[in-house]
Amino acid sequence: MIDVIAIDGPAASGKSTVAGCLAETLNIPYINTGNMFRAVTRAAQAAGIRTQEDCTEARLRPVLEKLQMDYRQTPEGKWDLAVNGEFPGSALRAPEIAALVSQVAAVGCVRSRLKDLQRSLAVRGMLVMEGRDIGTEIFPDSRWKFFITATPEERARRRLAQSGENVSGATLEEVARGIAERDRIDSLRAIAPLRPAPDAEIVDTTGMTISGVVGHIVARVKA
Ligand code: CDP
Repeated sequence: MIDVIAIDGPAASGKSTVAGCLAETLNIPYINTGNMFRAVTRAAQAAGIRTQEDCTEARLRPVLEKLQMDYRQTPEGKWDLAVNGEFPGSALRAPEIAALVSQVAAVGCVRSRLKDLQRSLAVRGMLVMEGRDIGTEIFPDSRWKFFITATPEERARRRLAQSGENVSGATLEEVARGIAERDRIDSLRAIAPLRPAPDAEIVDTTGMTISGVVGHIVARVKA
């Protein structure tokens, strides 16, 4: 068993907020693996990769070769993802990146490179790691596993309320369509698809507050 709290779940389920608060409450590091896939996607787009058809091993391998990713302390003292020595931060949340990230994340060379990085981060002790396949593929031996979900309507409402994450003027229906498409690709891909680990606790957060969800998980971890 490894002292990782694995938080998985579909898009816009509130995982990142919950995982961040959980790490703060327990005073342990928080790793958002979605940001790693978003960083690869951003670099791929800068290299001219635009569509699903462009997302091939042959096109993505050279992008990965030029990409150096690690976790470092920001000038404010917070640990965050650094890409080629810089902190992309909220730039990774741009809607253009969200529109291609699931297609990039389905490619084998991308997943195996990020798996190595994610696994290497667990040597530092207890941590919260959040994504789609943490409990199933990255740390199947993690001590705690939670699958955070909510109804599609609630997830679309939550995403629409997040500034900087949506195309300007986007409607609730458009946001819901984008989320559903990403979940479809994430669930159907051949490698490490989105699904709860058999031993994960499924937490339906529809109608729950963030502090309610965090409190529930903290109680489980402390038990
Ligand atoms: O925050 P949001 O729910 O929009 O998504 P994210 O956690 O930033 O993840 C973005 C995308 O990266 C997902 O839709 C997946 O395609 C991919 N991803 C993945 O395949 N495996 C992970 N462990 C994390 C993210």
